[in-house]
Amino acid sequence: MQQARAVVAQEFEAVNKLIIEELHSEVALAENIGHYIVDAGGKRLRPMLVLLAGGANGKLTQQHITLAAVIEFIHTATLLHDDVVDVSTLRRGRPTANAEWGNASSVLVGDFLYTRAFQLLVRLGNMEVMALLADVTNTIAEGEVLQLTKAGDPNTSEEDYFKVIKNKTAVLFAAATAGGAILSGASEEQVETYYQYGLNLGLAFQLVDDTLDYQGNPEEMGKNIGDDLNEGKPTLPLIYLMKHGTQEQKTLTKSAISNKSSEHIEQIITATQSSGAIDYAHNKAQQLSDLAIAQLQGFTETPHSKALNRLAKLSTSRTA
Ligand code: IPE
Ligand code: IPE
Ligand code: MG
Ligand code: MG
Repeated sequence: MQQARAVVAQEFEAVNKLIIEELHSEVALAENIGHYIVDAGGKRLRPMLVLLAGGANGKLTQQHITLAAVIEFIHTATLLHDDVVDVSTLRRGRPTANAEWGNASSVLVGDFLYTRAFQLLVRLGNMEVMALLADVTNTIAEGEVLQLTKAGDPNTSEEDYFKVIKNKTAVLFAAATAGGAILSGASEEQVETYYQYGLNLGLAFQLVDDTLDYQGNPEEMGKNIGDDLNEGKPTLPLIYLMKHGTQEQKTLTKSAISNKSSEHIEQIITATQSSGAIDYAHNKAQQLSDLAIAQLQGFTETPHSKALNRLAKLSTSRTA
């Protein structure tokens, strides 16, 4: 991750500076909660994708820096809303904003960040990028609603699951890489290639996130494990378990999802491991990461494209 960051170190600094500048508000609570979540850091993976895809396709400009900040603002807004919906209490190693200030404040400041992102986007002034971000943001909201309708439903199919993660997570990765390429004047074909890279990377990233909810270390991740089970989320490891586990494991998992209960999380954690459910999800993530890497083949190798390659590899081995 650090190696990849070094390729765009200067621009990355500029993005971080812009993010802080653009948090300003005349209303103290909006600015305070904005700072609270932003200052906790996060990996800043999406801004990095904008810069690396931009650099792989041409020269980086102030427009790339603005787009990177826009996408991080949109991501941060979705996290504020997501933690309310998921009733999560830990994010980026700190109590969530909803745990500190309550749901109302989190939802409203999430809106503040969403709309600040669109103010910045208008300033950027590229209609193609604006259309891309408007569509993607709408799709994320749809993805979260779709996920909500599947919560507590043990009959959720693998196809449903992939639709949820594509919409809620992968399209924003795709917008980051495609948007970076557009701002570098890339051809339509090239933009599509970068879109596909981001989409496959984003799917792999969310798949791994969903395995970490059963295998991860809260200290390292900065968020709690077991949140998905508490919300009755039928993620891929559980979908696999309900199909291929022992009869006892199937029954246990179905009832945990239907009742949105993490009462038997220890047994379910063990079962996701012994049944091969985690391996199954990891293999899928590996295939998607390979697909992302395959998109970049056939183009001239640059430090930026090499860093994108490395990020795709890292996405499957990450523990945070
Ligand atoms: C968290 O995203 C939400 C998911 C899509 C799983 P990140 O893991 O990129 O969160 P931060 O920004 O690094 O905290
Ligand atoms: C994250 O989904 C997707 C969005 C925030 C839109 P999750 O609910 O799986 O992410 P974490 O685990 O809370 O970070
Ligand atoms: Mg969540
Ligand atoms: Mg999760």
